[in-house]
Amino acid sequence: MAELRRDPDRNLALELARVTEGAALAAAKWMGRGDKNAGDGAAVNAMRAVLNVVGMDGIVVIGEGEKDEAPMLFNGERLGTGVPPLMDIAVDPIDGTRLLATGGSGSISVVALAERGRMFRPTTFYMDKIVVGPDCVGVIDIEAPPAANIRAVARAKGMPISAVTVCILDRPRHAELIRKVRATGARIKLIGDGDVAGGLQTAIPESGVDILMGIGGTPEGVITAAAMRCVGGEIQGRLWARDEAERATAGAELDKVLDTNTLCGGDNVFFSATGITSGELLEGVRFTATGANTFTMVMRSTTGTVRYIEAHHRFDKIDVLTRANN
Ligand code: FBP
Repeated sequence: MAELRRDPDRNLALELARVTEGAALAAAKWMGRGDKNAGDGAAVNAMRAVLNVVGMDGIVVIGEGEKDEAPMLFNGERLGTGVPPLMDIAVDPIDGTRLLATGGSGSISVVALAERGRMFRPTTFYMDKIVVGPDCVGVIDIEAPPAANIRAVARAKGMPISAVTVCILDRPRHAELIRKVRATGARIKLIGDGDVAGGLQTAIPESGVDILMGIGGTPEGVITAAAMRCVGGEIQGRLWARDEAERATAGAELDKVLDTNTLCGGDNVFFSATGITSGELLEGVRFTATGANTFTMVMRSTTGTVRYIEAHHRFDKIDVLTRANN
C-alpha cells in the first residue's frame, strides 16, 4: 500500500464510478429483453474494459457468474494498468440479472476494491447474512435468534418492534426465517433479487430498511462488507453449504462467524454502484435521444464520504454501448 500511504487522498472510488457507469450503460439496453446472459455479458465486457484503465495493479478475488455459469470476470484475473497500489477487486457487473431481464426494479452494477489480500476468498456460493446500518453496530449477533436481533435493533433505533423493517430475499429456503420474523410483529420487505442493495439500504435512514437477513450469494456478502466499511455499518456472515461437496470443501469455515473486517479488511476500501433499472437505492439508466443519464454512488472507507454522481453521457462523443471509454 506504499502508494496509497504516500497519496492518501487518492480516491479510487471516483475512478470506479466510470467502471460501474460503463457496465450499467452497456447492460441497460438489455432491460426487459429476457436474456440474462446477454445483459451480463455486455456489463462484464464494459466493466473489464474500464477497470483496465484504472491506475492500479488489481486482481479479481470476487468474480461473478460461476453460480449461474454466466459470463464472468474470473477469479485471479489481473486488471488495471499494472502500477501500484496493489488491490483486491470484487465485481458484480449486474446484481439482479433477472430483474434486468424482466425490466424489474433495482438492478445495479457494483465494484469494490480493498488492499491486496484483504478480501475474503469464498469457499461456498451462499452465505447467511445479517446487515445493519451505523446506528446498530455492535448490537447484532448472527448466532442469536431473529427475534433477539430484531429486539436489539428496535432498542438501538429507539423504535417499536412493529416499526422495524427486515429485508429478506423471497426464497423458499427462507420460509422458517420469515415465519420467525412475522412472529415478532416486525415488518418484512421481501425482495426478488439484489441483496447488495438491500443490505446497503440499512445504512440509508430514509430507505425504511432496518435489517437485512437471510441467505444470499457469498460474493454479494463480501461486496456488502466493502459497502459497510465505507458507511460504517456492520455485516455478519456464516457460509452456507448447498450440498455435501460444498460442506466438505468449506469444512470448519462453516462454523465461523465472519465479521465485516474479515470479509473486507484493510484501511482503504473503495466502492461504486450505478443503477441499471430504477430502484429504491439508485435511479436506473435513462436513455434520451442523444445519450443517457446514469446515477451512481461512490464512497471510500478512509473518509466515509458518500457521493452521488449524476452523469450525462453523449453518444455523439462516445459509443458507450459498444466501447467502454466513457
Ligand atoms: P445475480 O444477479 O448475480 O444472479 O444475483 C442476484 C441475487 O439476488 C443476489 O443479490 C443474491 O445474493 C443472490 O442472487 C441469491 O441467490 P439465489 O438467487 O440463488 O437465491
